[in-house]
Order: sequence, then C-alpha cells, then structure tokens
Amino acid sequence: MNDDLRGQYENYPYPPRDPADEAKRLIAGSPSHICEIEHHIMGGVRNAAEPRRILVAGGGTGDATVMLAAQHAAAGIDAEIIHLDISEASSAIAKSRIDARGLTNTKFVHGAIEAIAERDLGTFDYIDCCGVLHHLEDPVAGLKALRTALKPAGGLGMMVYAPLGRTGVYHAQAMLQMIAGDLPDPDRISAARELLGELPDTNWLKRNPYVGDHLNQGDSGIYDLLLHRRDRAYSVPELAALVQQGGMRPVNFVDPARYEPSVYLTSAELLKRTSGLNWVQRCAFAELLAGNMKTHILYAVRDDNKTNSLATPDGADTIPVMRDDDGQSLGAQIKPGMSLKVDMAGVKISLPLPQLAGPILMLIDGEKSLADIHADLQSSQKPAPGQDNSRNSSTSFSARSTG
Ligand SMILES: C[S@@+](CC[C@H](N)C(=O)[O-])C[C@H]1O[C@@H](n2cnc3c(N)ncnc32)[C@H](O)[C@@H]1O
Repeated sequence: MNDDLRGQYENYPYPPRDPADEAKRLIAGSPSHICEIEHHIMGGVRNAAEPRRILVAGGGTGDATVMLAAQHAAAGIDAEIIHLDISEASSAIAKSRIDARGLTNTKFVHGAIEAIAERDLGTFDYIDCCGVLHHLEDPVAGLKALRTALKPAGGLGMMVYAPLGRTGVYHAQAMLQMIAGDLPDPDRISAARELLGELPDTNWLKRNPYVGDHLNQGDSGIYDLLLHRRDRAYSVPELAALVQQGGMRPVNFVDPARYEPSVYLTSAELLKRTSGLNWVQRCAFAELLAGNMKTHILYAVRDDNKTNSLATPDGADTIPVMRDDDGQSLGAQIKPGMSLKVDMAGVKISLPLPQLAGPILMLIDGEKSLADIHADLQSSQKPAPGQDNSRNSSTSFSARSTG
C-alpha cells in the first residue's frame, strides 16, 4: 500500500511549492515554529549553545524543513535537520528550497517512517510529523517508530486531520471512489473536477467554506483532498487514544484557546459543568461545540517523560516573546478598554484586554524579562500627584500570560 501512496506523492507532490518563491517569503506556522517548540517542548528555554537534532518525518515538499532550517540558522543554533520522506519528487523540491536559501544544516533521507529504526539516524530532540500519520496503514506503529527516535526529553509536533471541519470531504471521496476508483490518476482528477462543477448548493463540501485545497492547490490539492488512497480523521478522543497507544503524552494543542470551552460559552451553568471535565474531555467538548476544526495540531512528549515541558511564566526573569508579531507595533494599535476580536475559522470571539495590554505589548522585545517590563511600566505609569493607579499596575500582572 505504501507503493500506491508513494506513487501519489511522486506524481502529485503536496503541497505544491516553487523553490523560486523562497526569495519572496518564508512559510512559517504550526507545528514546529521554533518559538512553539521552545514553548511547548523545551520549557521555554533557548540555549543557543546546545546543538539540536531535528527530524521532519514525511517532510514532503519542505514547509517544516525550510522553516526549521531557516529559523535555527537565524537564531545561531547549531541544528542538524533530517528530512525523511518516501517520495523522491517531494524531497527534491524540499532540497531545492533549502539550496535556494543557501542553508547547510539539512540532510535528506529517502525512506519510510515505519522503517526508521533500520536507517540508523540516531535520536532527536524534536520530531515534526505534519499531515502524515493519518495516511499511514498503521498510525500507532508509525507513532511508536517515531517515539523510538526521540531522546528521553524530546518532543513531537504533529498535525492530523479532524472530522468536523472536513465535513463534505469524505462524502466527495466516497462518491469519487464509486465512479472513478479504478481509473488512472489523470481520469480520477478529471472526474473530480467534473463532480466539483456539479455539486448542488446543499452538498456538504460546497457548504463548507473552510476547506479550499480542491479550489486553490491545482491537481495536487484535488488529489490530496478528494482522491487520497488512505486518509482518516481523528476526533479529540481518537487522537488522545492514538497518542497514548503510541507511547506518548499530550502537552498542548495549538491554538489552545480553540480547545477551551469557556472561550465559547457565557452561561454560568454551562461554564460550571464544563469546568468539571478533565482536559481531554474539555478539548473534546470544544471540538464538538465549535464544529469547525479541520485539523488538530498537538505537541507531545514521551509517556515516560514526567517533567513539565510547557513554558510557565512563573519567574521574574522569564522573557516573554512574540511568536510572529512585533510587540511594539501591535501594542501601539491597542487602546485602553479595547477587546481582542478573534475569528477562529468562523467562530467570532471577543476577549477583554487588560488595561495595560498595549503598554505591555510594546515592551515585549524578546530581550526584556517580566521584571524589566514591570519596572518599565511602573516608571512610565507613575501616578500624577494625587492619582492612585494601583489598580492598573495589578492588572499588568494578570496580563503576563498575554506574552
Ligand atoms: C500531506 S504530505 C505532508 C507533507 C509535509 N509534512 C507538510 O506538512 O507539508 C504527506 C507526506 O508524507 C509522506 N509519507 C507518506 N507516508 C509516508 C511514510 N510511511 N514514511 C515517510 N513519508 C511518508 C508523503 O510522501 C508526503 O510527502
């Protein structure tokens, strides 16, 4: 069966990428952004003097490989990044992207995740496995194979499909299997295009605005979404079972807010009842409530790793870092009393911001510690004679987690 799958990714590397685009932009995101690895897996610690070994398992056309290689090079961290894939065509694209950036910290290995033990690749501080486990014949065996390649304190960032946000995808896959399952690939793609042109307005794929690969990623997108030979989706409880059977322990979903029922609910009774659920149940409840999750991005560590790998902003010397935005310009846009308006794939929420959110954000520069920020705030927020702003300064501490 891996031969069928390999054939697909040799002929339709996914996602489609042009190495020339490396001159224009770096694709960065979850899982495996360097700040997320450090936040979720490394306890918030960046020790630039400590070398890192990173495996990108099923690295495809190279999004994670390029991001990891570029971010570690920029951070001055001596990293060895190994890109593993069964598709030589996909790996060739990934390699051209790395070469286009002049990066030298990456190696390319042709092979299957399941056979990783035979490749003698050593062990890793971090493994990226994005959009791959749900295509394996035996995802538990695949995850166990990755676990054997993890150092005891290492961690894994994974993405698997989620069912509710992919509503309509599996309906279309089933129809195409019925009418074109045995045809050569170009004919299957042609049948898919014909079918997409005939979907009635009531069809669930047509009614799902959050799935778009069949509309904007060419033949590779249509193949990956609608014609894949092996594709399954995991609900939160199913994913929790996969992780546990694979010998891993979940650390956190990204974005954590999407998995928190209280982000969606206001009823005191519902808030009270959901607060009594354990973490997996709360995440499962949020998935059912939102109904829009098309993937799950999860960080996990080995189940024999009992230390807390998640960063906790619990000390005055903690340095808050922005993942992408520039604190200075973001903070300048935030006025006192503003709420943060977030659109989480159609769920619109409004989060009240602490009074000093703007000034705090403006001080987050990746260098200043919480103690520095607090001191700067105190001196800049000194009350005018006769004015008591002690309430504002205590609010500043409740905003620590903002960073
Ligand atoms: C959907 S693509 C995802 C690529 C990449 N991880 C990303 O997120 O852009 C899946 C990739 O997994 C690779 N793959 C599938 N089964 C594999 C296996 N058993 N071992 C190694 N790679 C595999 C495919 O060749 C393909 O490049």
